[in-house]
Amino acid sequence: MIAAYSAASQARVNAALETLFNPPSPELARLYEAMRYSVMNGGKRVRPLLAYAACEALGGKAEQANGAACAVELIHAYSLVHDDLPAMDDDDLRRGQPTTHKKFDEACAILAGDGLQSLAFSALLDPRLSASDAETRLQMVSALALAAGPAGMVGGQAIDLGSVGLKLDQKALEYMHRHKTGALIEVSVKLGALASGQAERDELKSLQSYAQAIGLAFQVQDDILDVESDTATLGKRQGADIARDKPTYPALLGLDAAKAYALELRDQALHALRPFDAAAEPLRDLARYIVDRRN
Ligand code: IPE
Ligand code: IPE
Ligand code: MG
Ligand code: MG
Ligand code: MG
Repeated sequence: MIAAYSAASQARVNAALETLFNPPSPELARLYEAMRYSVMNGGKRVRPLLAYAACEALGGKAEQANGAACAVELIHAYSLVHDDLPAMDDDDLRRGQPTTHKKFDEACAILAGDGLQSLAFSALLDPRLSASDAETRLQMVSALALAAGPAGMVGGQAIDLGSVGLKLDQKALEYMHRHKTGALIEVSVKLGALASGQAERDELKSLQSYAQAIGLAFQVQDDILDVESDTATLGKRQGADIARDKPTYPALLGLDAAKAYALELRDQALHALRPFDAAAEPLRDLARYIVDRRN
């Protein structure tokens, strides 16, 4: 079920994303090409899938969440372009292809990232992508700004880069992961729920508990895969965290305890979905997928 659901969702978000990269003038062809390259180069589209699945769990139609799905993937793509820069993780391979600064150049990659971030907010407001009312859009913009910005993903990245070579304790590591990765995963669920137009407060709370657990689980699994996967499967360099002495869950707890923790978080996420009926099955599948995935 997850394979068919994810294929349909990936096709839906890819079609919507494709509409966003038309340069307004020929001088901007290279910038737009770099933005397009950074987004339309594969990627599992986990955040869009979460937005669609949350919308459907509340009885909405997946299409209603197209703006939300594009927005979270655009922020994610921007974060990866900047994460791979020499000043940050200095990686050459992403999604099995040269990173944006390798394919283009550093300045172009920085600007492409900046551009993708702005496009994300435009996508939330784009009437071609969704029909949400003005108040809902305002809630979405506000939630995405908080999750992507210095109190969310950017803050987590700052902590990540500030802690290379340090021994973080579990509390500090969890704080970092919840921000650099968890915040955007959490808001993907929230935006999808808001896009349904039928999010009740209690439901939003349960979905938030679900999203917090899988957001952390996602990065724990990312850390695990850095240790035990391989470069071809990952599409990014295996062992990069170890080589750079990054603080990770396997480094702190050991591989087996990190794996047990990922499973515990998955179970917490499934528990949070107890009030939901069969319409939340894709969300349940995604929780399982996040800790079972091999790339
Ligand atoms: C990788 O994210 C970066 C993290 C936040 C851990 P994904 O594993 O979702 O990367 P893509 O989008 O599939 O390439
Ligand atoms: C990336 O974390 C998190 C963000 C891009 C916000 P990582 O640095 O672990 O991601 P990968 O492993 O390079 O994909
Ligand atoms: Mg990083
Ligand atoms: Mg990285
Ligand atoms: Mg990583």
